[in-house]
Amino acid sequence: MTKIRIGLIGCGFMGRAHSNAHNRVPNFFPELKCKPVLQAVCDSNADCVKGFAEQWGYASTETDWRKLIERPDIDVVEICVPNKYHREIAVAAAAQGKMILCEKPLCMNTAEGEEMAAAVEKAGVANMVSYNYRRMPAVSLAKALIDSGKLGRIYHYRSNFLQDWCISASVPQGGDSTWRLDVGSAGSGVTGDLLAHCIDTAIWLNGGIKTVTAMTETFIKERMHVETGKMQPVGIDDACSFLCRFDNGSLGLFESTRYACGHKALFTFEINGEHASLKWDLHDLHRLEMFDHNDPGPVRGWRSIHVTDHGGDHPYMERWWVPGLQIGYEHSFVHQAADFMKSLETGEPCSPTFRDALKTQAVCEAVLNSASAGSWALL
Ligand SMILES: NC(=O)c1ccc[n+]([C@@H]2O[C@H](COP(=O)([O-])OP(=O)(O)OC[C@H]3O[C@@H](n4cnc5c(N)ncnc54)[C@H](O)[C@@H]3O)[C@@H](O)[C@H]2O)c1
Repeated sequence: MTKIRIGLIGCGFMGRAHSNAHNRVPNFFPELKCKPVLQAVCDSNADCVKGFAEQWGYASTETDWRKLIERPDIDVVEICVPNKYHREIAVAAAAQGKMILCEKPLCMNTAEGEEMAAAVEKAGVANMVSYNYRRMPAVSLAKALIDSGKLGRIYHYRSNFLQDWCISASVPQGGDSTWRLDVGSAGSGVTGDLLAHCIDTAIWLNGGIKTVTAMTETFIKERMHVETGKMQPVGIDDACSFLCRFDNGSLGLFESTRYACGHKALFTFEINGEHASLKWDLHDLHRLEMFDHNDPGPVRGWRSIHVTDHGGDHPYMERWWVPGLQIGYEHSFVHQAADFMKSLETGEPCSPTFRDALKTQAVCEAVLNSASAGSWALL
C-alpha cells in the first residue's frame, strides 16, 4: 500500500467536500493500492485552519500555501481556494514536483490555463480538475448509454444551471463569503462558476464545441465591496445564455443565472438523439430519465431510471449500500478521489486533466467574448 500524502489548500466548502472524500475512499474502495492520507491543511484564515484540521483529521496545518507546497512530506496539492489563486499555486506546485487536484474552473482565463497545463506537463505530474458531476452515477450512466450508440445521431443538447442567491441588491461583493461576485477573485460570474460545469459535462457527453453566440447581463450594476466598504461596479456576468454548434453537428442551448427566483442549484441537461433522449436534474440526482423510441408503441414514454442497481449496471453503485438505496452530492467527490488514486496506481491520466479542462475554459472565454462583441465566436 502506498500512502498518498494530501496537502489541501482552502478549508471552505470544497475543502470539506475533498476532505470527506479522502476519508471515505479507504472504506469504500478498499482494493486501491494508493491510500490518501490527510497530511496537511492550509488556509490563510488562521482562526479556522486548526479547528478544521481537528475536525477532518489532518496531521498538521499551514497558513501560507507556499510553505505547504515546499514540504517534502506532501505528494498531492489540492487547490480549493478562490479562482484567482489557482494559476499561481498550480504552477508553483508543479515546479515542486507535486501532483495536483485543482478545483474548477481551472483558472481565470485561457492564457492562465495554457500556463498551468504546460507546467504540469513539463513537470510530468498527475493532474486533474474537479468537475465532479461527471462522477454522479446517473451522469456516468448517461455517458455509457451515449457511447454505446443507444441515442444514434445527436441533434440537440440543452443545459441549465439556475440559482437565486444574488437577487438582493444588499448582497455584497468580494471578501471571504462573496468572492464569487468580485471579478478580480472569480474571473467571471455564472459563466466560469456554473456554466463551466454544464460545458464540461456537455463536452464529455457530446464532444467538442466549435462556435458560440452568447448574451450576458449584470442586473445589479453596483454592490458594496467587502474590502473597501464602498459601492463599486460589478464586473461579473449575473446571467448568461448561449447557443452553440458541436463538432458532431448537433445544436446546443445553455442558460445560467443567479436570479431565477426559487431555484437553488438546478443543474439540468437533456440530449436528444435519433433513437432516444436522456435528461438529468441535479435536484433528483440519482435518477436518469430516458425516452426510447424503439420501445413498443403502447408503452413508449419517458422512463425514470433509479440509478441504484448493482452487478455493474449502474456506475459506482455497488460500492455503496443495497439496490434501491440512493446516494448524494458528496459521493461524486468520493468517486473522483477514488478514480484519482486508481490513476496513480495505473499511471493513466485521470480525466478531466488540466489539458481537458482547458477546452471548457476556452468555451467560457469564447462565450464571454461573443457576448461583449455581440457576434458569433469561433473556437
Ligand atoms: N466542484 C464544484 O462543484 C465546486 C463547488 C464549489 C466551489 N468550487 C470551486 O472551489 C474553489 C473554492 O470554492 P469554495 O466554495 O470552497 O470557497 P470558500 O469561500 O468556501 O472557501 C475558500 C477558502 O479558501 C481560503 N483562502 C482564500 N484565499 C486563500 C489563500 N490565498 N491561501 C489559503 N487559503 C485561502 C478561505 O479562507 C476559505 O476558507 C473555487 O475555485 C470554486 O470555483 C467548485
